[in-house]
Amino acid sequence: MSRSALDHQSPIGVFDSGLGGLTVAAAIRKILPAERIVYLGDTARVPYGPRSTETIQAFALQNAAFLRKFNIKLLVVACNTVSAVALEQLRAVMPEIAVTGVILPGVRAACETCPEKAVVIGTKGTVRSGVYVRELHKLIPELQVRAIPCPLFVPFVEEGILEGPAVREMIHLYLAELHADPPDILIPGCTHYPLLKNALYDYLPKQTKIIDCAKASAEHVAALLTEQNLHAPENAKGSLECYVTDSPPGFESQAEKFLGYPPDKVEKVTL
Ligand code: DGL
Repeated sequence: MSRSALDHQSPIGVFDSGLGGLTVAAAIRKILPAERIVYLGDTARVPYGPRSTETIQAFALQNAAFLRKFNIKLLVVACNTVSAVALEQLRAVMPEIAVTGVILPGVRAACETCPEKAVVIGTKGTVRSGVYVRELHKLIPELQVRAIPCPLFVPFVEEGILEGPAVREMIHLYLAELHADPPDILIPGCTHYPLLKNALYDYLPKQTKIIDCAKASAEHVAALLTEQNLHAPENAKGSLECYVTDSPPGFESQAEKFLGYPPDKVEKVTL
């Protein structure tokens, strides 16, 4: 299908390894309420962060192939780990639509605050890729930046454990060094991490601001739709449909925690 044949009534496809990408879907819903969003959470295979680049790329291609069946007009990779290593492969197999990740919008939002010192937190895969440090330095070459992997954050968030002594202890395990050398900003380079925002703010040095990468990603999606003249009609009733590769008990209430409201539909699928 050619780009010109794309229909503005088509849905936006969004995927993540699990529930985390719902933070991005929620931000898109907020600024683009007329859009239909089809979300895939690969809950059977979460987490992606500790896996090899080849495995993450293979999973990403399968997820995109599933969403493509909905005739999506735009693909949002709501996963930093996949955005770090598989965007080019996805673009190559889906040349008819725009494929966007969540890293560059977050980097741009971070740089708009004119930081001198930044810390990026992410999965092992994202940190290993070095992409945040590279992209931040392209915009602010003199920026002092550290990237810290926080592999336990994702399982805690998937379990819905977002505060309390165990969460504080976990944050302390990875981020104690920030008290000795406080950054101006913390970039949550994983779409699960905004759910730990309150716990992170409780722990972080007072002067450290957390960047809202989900909002920045949603604004980028809106700009892409404008550029391609693909916005849904203003009076359309938007929706959020969730597809998951495994549906553990309590999925809906977990999803509600991420979104602040229940999804319109939850269905278990096989890729
Ligand atoms: N939420 C994803 C990310 O942004 C992936 C987390 C994981 O599966 O390890 O990186």
